[in-house]
Amino acid sequence: MFSTTKARTRLTGVLAGAAVLALAACSSGGDGGGDTAGGEGGGGGGDLITVGFSQVGAESGWRAANTKSIQDTLTEENGFDLKFSDAQQKQENQIQAIRSYIAQGVDVIAFSPVVESGWDSVLEEAKQAGIPVVLTDRAVDSEDETLYESFIGSDFVLEGEMAGEWVSENLATEPINVVELQGTTGAAPAIDRKKGFEDATADNPNVTIIDSQTGNFTRSEGKTVMEGFLQAHDDIDLVYAHNDDMGLGAIEAIEAAGLVPGEDIKIVTVDAVKDGMQALADGKINFIVECNPLLGPDLAEVIKKVVAGEEVEKRIVVEDQSFTQEQAIEALPTREY
Ligand code: AHR
Repeated sequence: MFSTTKARTRLTGVLAGAAVLALAACSSGGDGGGDTAGGEGGGGGGDLITVGFSQVGAESGWRAANTKSIQDTLTEENGFDLKFSDAQQKQENQIQAIRSYIAQGVDVIAFSPVVESGWDSVLEEAKQAGIPVVLTDRAVDSEDETLYESFIGSDFVLEGEMAGEWVSENLATEPINVVELQGTTGAAPAIDRKKGFEDATADNPNVTIIDSQTGNFTRSEGKTVMEGFLQAHDDIDLVYAHNDDMGLGAIEAIEAAGLVPGEDIKIVTVDAVKDGMQALADGKINFIVECNPLLGPDLAEVIKKVVAGEEVEKRIVVEDQSFTQEQAIEALPTREY
């Protein structure tokens, strides 16, 4: 029987460099100026830990839930002075924000990298300044693991595999044509969810991916790309969207074309945020693999340990579940995000 729940795992990792930690613990911060700041600002908020957080953007319901979790957890009451900036899905904005946090002398920098590559220089600058870095949600592809203390986030390859396994077992008992809505080009979840799905369906000759393009994780681009798919192909059986928002955009395009989403064209997505779960419960999506956005509590715990010079896990893998239509109906009333 198809397994719908994956257990949370924590992989024990490497201890952060003691010298960096000691410096970080002593860091007094700079003169403020973050996009949003709590506490006394300026990195000198009494006993508060000053954290500079660079968020990817506001591209999806998942991202909104993730931002809320971080802002609700890294509060003054919990001992933090949070400086938060939104990079609007641009790597150059994140690099600029990180450099600004270095200049301000924050105690810790945390960020969710828009794309996987191109981080070594700025992370080296943070290291030289003695400011520890924690990655959340998305990974960097740097070979130098001393550039960050810990990476907290889901296993995106596993998410893609879970989607592919469900498709293979439940839909691809006969030949199906799949179109894929990829996430942001170069982003870890786009690369990994593609790979996971392809790996899980590789042995099933009934699965053919006939088209694959990026919808940049947004509902509007998901809709536009799906409109193009519908014009180019009259034989689409399944949309595999790397997030709910692109799947929801695809639903709009499918309905506008006079077809019934979830029936004429099946849809499988990743995230399981409220709007996606509602569409699943309504029968417009067929299956969703969760990506848990509630990373604030783990981030707070890791930061406190890093500043205290304690050992932290190099990789913290966050729990993900999956949902069928029936399970979505059951889960929706108590769904947190
Ligand atoms: O990195 C996580 C992904 O980013 C989410 O799945 C997607 O919705 C978001 O934009």
